[in-house]
Amino acid sequence: MLLYLRYRRGQKWVRERLNEIPEIKIDPDFLGEVESVKITFLVDYYPVDERFKGEPGVSYHVNADGYRVLFDTGFNASNEEPSPLLHNASLLNIKLPEEIDAVVISHMHLDHIGGMRNQIRRTFSLSRKDLDLTGKIAFVPVKMSHPTADVVVNSTPTIISKGVLVTEPLPSMLYFMGKTLEQALVINLKGRGLVVIVGCGHQKVQNLVNYLEKLVPVKIYAVIGGVHLPVTQSRETRFGLPVQKILGTGKPPWNSPSRKDVEDLIQFLKEKGVKKVGISAHDSCDYTLGRFREEWGNDYIEIKAGSSVEL
Ligand SMILES: [Fe+2]
Repeated sequence: MLLYLRYRRGQKWVRERLNEIPEIKIDPDFLGEVESVKITFLVDYYPVDERFKGEPGVSYHVNADGYRVLFDTGFNASNEEPSPLLHNASLLNIKLPEEIDAVVISHMHLDHIGGMRNQIRRTFSLSRKDLDLTGKIAFVPVKMSHPTADVVVNSTPTIISKGVLVTEPLPSMLYFMGKTLEQALVINLKGRGLVVIVGCGHQKVQNLVNYLEKLVPVKIYAVIGGVHLPVTQSRETRFGLPVQKILGTGKPPWNSPSRKDVEDLIQFLKEKGVKKVGISAHDSCDYTLGRFREEWGNDYIEIKAGSSVEL
């Protein structure tokens, strides 16, 4: 009962917070654009082959005209050294932390910041021992710290490089996990439109797209990352319970994500004319991935640890 009341209060907080977002407009000329973007999927649920380690977490290396962002830092559920993130990056010859200019943390959940220990300590790490991030900026959505990185708690849309933007953290209320703020990475790709990279999609992709439409008058070209739609299965189970179906959703546990939610999102993105879509398997089931794959065909982007896409 208390949880339910907290949930209802949290939903009110989400509505109020969404309404309070100031009507900022960013001129596309001011934002700038990039000629190309390459996204290398360092961590996700499925590996591209057996050399790579897959896990239900996210870390993507984004190279936008030479500006390199590490978007989230994986899960490292077993607290390994090296972490799956470092293991996979080294197979791809991506040197960490040398080959990153900034870190962007989508939200402070264990599968995006390098594990439960980090969530409790409100920090993030790339591996158990972590790396020296001196001189690197980390844009985070809530108060967090890091021993060596320059941490910036982001509260507004922030242009971090020419054509590269971090959104304002958008709110969601998760039934058990409570209030969550999640930001996304957006790249303005010349001649194509906005490439939107999402962590878990707790903010709801629909809310994110509606927010972006008001913020930047540029069409959305691609949506890539987590949408949190575990319909038929959960990537993680605890005590036999499908935790992702219960824990990470913005719905109460008796109303977990459904096929209708999948169809609603497909229809929404089609109506918005989103040309390319890639769904992370770390927080969505194979059924959901299959539906998006069917709908987008050759324009569907496979997200697998060890693979990459150039746009
Ligand atoms: Fe996640």
